Amino acid sequence: AGHNANIVWHRTTVTKQDRQKTKGHKSAVLWFTGLSGAGKSTLANEVERRLHERGMHTYLLDGDNIRHGINKDLGFSPEDRAENIRRIGEVAKLFVDAGVLVLTAFISPYRADRALARGLVEDGEFIEIYVNCALEECEKRDPKGLYKKARTGEIPEFTGISSPYEEPEAPELIVKTDKKTLDESAEQVIAFLRKKGII
Ligand code: PPS
Repeated sequence: AGHNANIVWHRTTVTKQDRQKTKGHKSAVLWFTGLSGAGKSTLANEVERRLHERGMHTYLLDGDNIRHGINKDLGFSPEDRAENIRRIGEVAKLFVDAGVLVLTAFISPYRADRALARGLVEDGEFIEIYVNCALEECEKRDPKGLYKKARTGEIPEFTGISSPYEEPEAPELIVKTDKKTLDESAEQVIAFLRKKGII
């Protein structure tokens, strides 16, 4: 906290509750985590499309786009991944405050980094969705040809091959994308949001 000691937090006149009221639904972070090629981005896009169609206020923060912009200075060392996730967590928090349903699609392989992002928002506002797909299946899909490069060593520190993926221990949801259709997976997420009274 050292260098921030003289900065105080200002309350806004319009509150998160006010913003949620006009929008007609709660705000939350839908945090999709999983291996490269597990289908995080595909599923997050499909869920967002369905929520958006129902008139909800949504925004999707997606891996590759963020790494081209706000996080273009970061690589894939454990430290850089931690900073990547920290910044995304802070951005997601701002969207929650804005009354938006924010979806994030990042590998986020470290438990501690995900726990930090969770801790930035209030209880019940962080929905960790483990996009679960067997490594063998992800490698078979290899949509970007990255696993192939990881195996030859052309890409170092590749998640699942030469860098760890720490499975979520108590995610709000586990979606098995190697056992379900995209339609079923998206419906599983939407049903959870309904059950929790978020939408
Ligand atoms: S992380 O771990 O959460 O910081 O990663 P993320 O920001 O989601 O970025 C993952 C995407 O970057 C590509 N890529 C790599 N992934 C894992 N390990 C290494 N070394 C790596 N190098 C590049 C890869 O395309 C990931 O995209 P997805 O969509 O997950 O396949």
